[in-house]
Amino acid sequence: MKTYLITGGAGFIGSNFVQYIVKMHGQDDVQIIILDALTYAGNLKNIESELNLPYVHFIKGDIGDADVVADIFAKFDIDYVVNFAAESHVDRSISNPRLFLETNILGTQALLDAARRAWGKDSNAGGYAEGKKFLQVSTDEVYGSLEKEYDEPQPLRLDDKLKKVVEKRKNLKTFGKHFFTEDTPLSPRSPYSASKAGADMLVAAYHETYGMPVNITRCSNNYGAYQFPEKLIPLMIKNVIEGKKLPVYGTGMNVRDWLYVTDHCKAIDEVLEKGRIGEVYNIGGFNEECNINIVKLIINTISEIMHNEPAYQSLLRCRLEDVSEDLISYVTDRPGHDKRYAINPTKIATELGWYPETSFETGIKSTIRWYLDNQKWVDDVTSGDYQKYYDDMYKNR
Ligand code: NAD
Ligand code: TYD
Repeated sequence: MKTYLITGGAGFIGSNFVQYIVKMHGQDDVQIIILDALTYAGNLKNIESELNLPYVHFIKGDIGDADVVADIFAKFDIDYVVNFAAESHVDRSISNPRLFLETNILGTQALLDAARRAWGKDSNAGGYAEGKKFLQVSTDEVYGSLEKEYDEPQPLRLDDKLKKVVEKRKNLKTFGKHFFTEDTPLSPRSPYSASKAGADMLVAAYHETYGMPVNITRCSNNYGAYQFPEKLIPLMIKNVIEGKKLPVYGTGMNVRDWLYVTDHCKAIDEVLEKGRIGEVYNIGGFNEECNINIVKLIINTISEIMHNEPAYQSLLRCRLEDVSEDLISYVTDRPGHDKRYAINPTKIATELGWYPETSFETGIKSTIRWYLDNQKWVDDVTSGDYQKYYDDMYKNR
């Protein structure tokens, strides 16, 4: 019997992870406790069918609330803590850094303390009960920004160790010679990434100081179903469907390494089961692309779907002829905008056999279809204060 405490399980990656664990391990003896404060980014609809299962329990609460968290550890014999709960959007962190420090750093510390109390054996040896693990879900953004060394992407050459693991991904490319590895020094450059780096350091410190069984995973940009439409990919899909302007920051040449969310969930599952205690694992998509190309690809894929499958045209909220690159609008750059992120996932690939299986072509098509088919979800999550946030964000750009 394994009992998971999944924090932030109503958000984008957390809800995909809950679905993944139910699908992959639901038939085994598992129990899933979801703790989520249901901020603007959390929505119970994301896990609606999972919440009907007898072994899934939802608790609305803040990871930083020591009483709530202690109560969960008192009621359930938690084996794995998977900490997704966070404020996760860089632009919001630029407008309100404090909230990011409170949730991402102090919240993580409260969770760590509760786990330490519940799992620590009270002998002076400081041992922990068997099979326990605290997994901190972190980001490649803690490493800072890489240079973009090529204007046009070059073929990505894998070393022999990686080639053996990654058989199925073809035509991989990169915008530079350098990549983030687990040994890259932390050098965060936004309030969001600084808060995530702070949390990572605390998790590492709890391992060193109290012997806590931990792992940290640092992942590149995710995309897929249930992502709140403030991040690049879902925002651009939403705006194309609605015939609205597509705000591209600066020149649109900044590079991100995109990973399909299900591949991320699989990586976390592997690290929970097989990751060496105390280790950091980087998780990347082998999928570097500059923002402007992502935006153009979204426009062109939506247009292609509409032309090939006319039944989809009734889902458009604008005229078909409006779906064009004329929607692109270059706006003032994000302050401190990181140029390029790129992960070297050799460690997780060679130690745990994981690699990003989903090609971008496949992943982006299924993501676009999901947003076309789930506009009611988009309407629901963007009701309330969203429009004000969006208007404020872009009014000065
Ligand atoms: P998200 O913003 O979609 O979801 C965050 C969830 O946490 C929401 O359900 C929200 O209600 C909940 N939450 C926020 N504050 C809380 C609090 N104080 N207590 C309890 N719950 C709280 O985020 P996401 O994109 O799913 O990211 C999940 C995690 O993965 C984050 O830690 C993020 O830093 C990390 N990450 C995200 C990406 C990405 O591309 N989205 C990439 C790498 C790492
Ligand atoms: P985002 O999805 O916010 O993720 P992150 O900043 O954590 O990487 O942004 C991805 C990239 O897209 C980033 O370089 C900023 C850029 N971007 C835009 O150009 N326009 C937008 O409206 C948004 C939200 C992001």
